[in-house]
Amino acid sequence: MEYRYAKNCNYEDFASGRVLYNINRVPNFPVRLINEIYGRCLEYSHKKKDICLYDCCCGGGYSLTVLGLLNQNSISKIIASDIDYDMLDVAKLNLSLLSKEGINRRISEINSLYEQFNKESHMNAIKSAKKLSNLIQTDINTHIFQANAFEDIQMDIKPDIIITDVPYGNLVDWQGGEDEVSLLLQSLMKVCNNETIIAVTMNKSQKIRCDAFQRLEKQNIGKRHFEIYKLK
Ligand SMILES: C[S@@+](CC[C@H](N)C(=O)[O-])C[C@H]1O[C@@H](n2cnc3c(N)ncnc32)[C@H](O)[C@@H]1O
Repeated sequence: MEYRYAKNCNYEDFASGRVLYNINRVPNFPVRLINEIYGRCLEYSHKKKDICLYDCCCGGGYSLTVLGLLNQNSISKIIASDIDYDMLDVAKLNLSLLSKEGINRRISEINSLYEQFNKESHMNAIKSAKKLSNLIQTDINTHIFQANAFEDIQMDIKPDIIITDVPYGNLVDWQGGEDEVSLLLQSLMKVCNNETIIAVTMNKSQKIRCDAFQRLEKQNIGKRHFEIYKLK
């Protein structure tokens, strides 16, 4: 796959566990790839600014936080939900890094670790946190709540873009539903409007069949697979 939007550069400042939190040890999505998926969704979207971005399986909010930091010009609101309260605790911490106040708090936190342990990794993390802080130009509004993505998701706003990285078997399992990405898409119908663009990333064995949606794109990259949809 040719990258059209996300630059081939060093994304180590975003490394999970460095400045962004990775308390649950969930493997994180590659930064360049998630940003490319967002770029493609934005290309399909009729709206190019003031984007409301939603992830219904947000986990620790890693991907959403990375997207918020890298797309300050287009994203104005981020909505995150997950079935698991422990994941949501981490998502709250990560999404708080999108504000100057939150990133400054994180810098103080890493500073105290550096003073305590004098480790080079903490010094590098402080440098990264300052670089991430410099990316923040706008106040992205965030909303985080618990929801089973197969059931009624209570949202009073229709997101412009939904990007979700669904559970993939042995590491993170579906809870409260069958292993069926098609059912997820059906459930998302209720929270989107005719303009909402939905990107689902999954492994190659997972298949989507949902007549209400038209597929705009599908791509394989290594062992990952993503598809982009909108309502017919
Ligand atoms: C691959 S992880 C997502 C990682 C996330 N993109 C990140 O950046 O941290 C999949 C998530 O789906 C959640 N999940 C599993 N079943 C769910 C359900 N029925 N409804 C909502 N979330 C669910 C899991 O708790 C897990 O956090």
